[in-house]
Amino acid sequence: MAMENFKQFLFALSAAVSVGFVSTIFVLRWVFYFKEGLAWDGEFAEFNWHPVLMVTGFIFMQGIAIVVYRLPWTWKCSKLMMKFIHAGLNILAFIFAVISLVAVFDFHNAQNIPNMYSLHSWVGLAAVILYSLQLVLGVCIYLIPITPIYLRAAFMPLHVYSGLFIFASVITTALMGITEKLIFGLKYPKYKDSPPEANFVNVLGVLIVVFGAIILWIVTRPSWKRPSEQVLRSLPTYGDGSAGTKMGTALSQQTDPIDPEGNGDARRRSGKLEDSGQVN
Ligand code: HEM
Ligand code: HEM
Repeated sequence: MAMENFKQFLFALSAAVSVGFVSTIFVLRWVFYFKEGLAWDGEFAEFNWHPVLMVTGFIFMQGIAIVVYRLPWTWKCSKLMMKFIHAGLNILAFIFAVISLVAVFDFHNAQNIPNMYSLHSWVGLAAVILYSLQLVLGVCIYLIPITPIYLRAAFMPLHVYSGLFIFASVITTALMGITEKLIFGLKYPKYKDSPPEANFVNVLGVLIVVFGAIILWIVTRPSWKRPSEQVLRSLPTYGDGSAGTKMGTALSQQTDPIDPEGNGDARRRSGKLEDSGQVN
């Protein structure tokens, strides 16, 4: 299946995966080289699971889960299979987030530190609760086959909006958490004196922002959207030069009884933006 601006897509995807991978290395180096490492002992090493699992699971894995429908080499896979992958990665990210929260609550209780006093914790817990709601609604509406088609289609813009809103909130929360930890943890020299740990972890924060920015870019390009099932079925041979043109024609159709969930909306977005020359 031909994709518009395939090289740009590949560049953006490689950049996202590389930056996400480097962020994972950075958070591991932070806890192992600058901090106490990882353990489950009620001490600081237990707290350290919190940033590690949030960055690797709730940020990196969630980001990949969000763009998984956009990978053109998966367009020949069934939509159901892609739903399982999208839902599966999101469930895995949620499990990481929950273990990460258990670690920080357990650490606080063991050290007699109050829970839920900071803005970071308020926004963070709200994001995790909304994420669990998004998961339950996603499974009920898009995986369980009894949901009526009109409901699937009607809910999709909200699903996409809330997914992106939660993802952005999680990144914001991570930045607050990183800043708090540096202010609490750095004593001699202090954060304001820019010791090597502070600079290193500031870079981690910047990497997380860049990762989020690339994921949001990929997932908001109308021309990189997974074509509807109707379009895919109308193209018997993938990879021939005419596929892109055929896809363009089919994309202009507004109703899709085979794949009601959201592509109509994407097509409308796509059509409008392309008409007004906003799409590259
Ligand atoms: C505490 C959520 C990332 C540092 C907390 C708490 C929550 C939370 C709900 C409250 C725990 C309690 O009261 O016992 C999140 C979420 C994140 C995230 C959803 C998603 C990215 C991070 C990161 C760091 C961090 C990357 C960096 C070290 C902290 C610190 C605390 C904390 C220092 C204890 C102080 C406080 O309660 O604000 N986090 N966190 N967090 N988190 Fe995070
Ligand atoms: C699409 C987020 C869980 C089904 C999307 C999109 C986002 C998103 C941002 C837009 C993707 C794109 O435009 O390419 C999330 C988040 C979830 C979650 C954050 C977890 C908290 C689920 C679950 C299902 C599901 C459990 C059940 C199968 C779908 C479907 C699409 C979609 C069918 C439309 C894909 C397309 O037609 O291209 N999701 N989602 N989502 N999601 Fe989810």
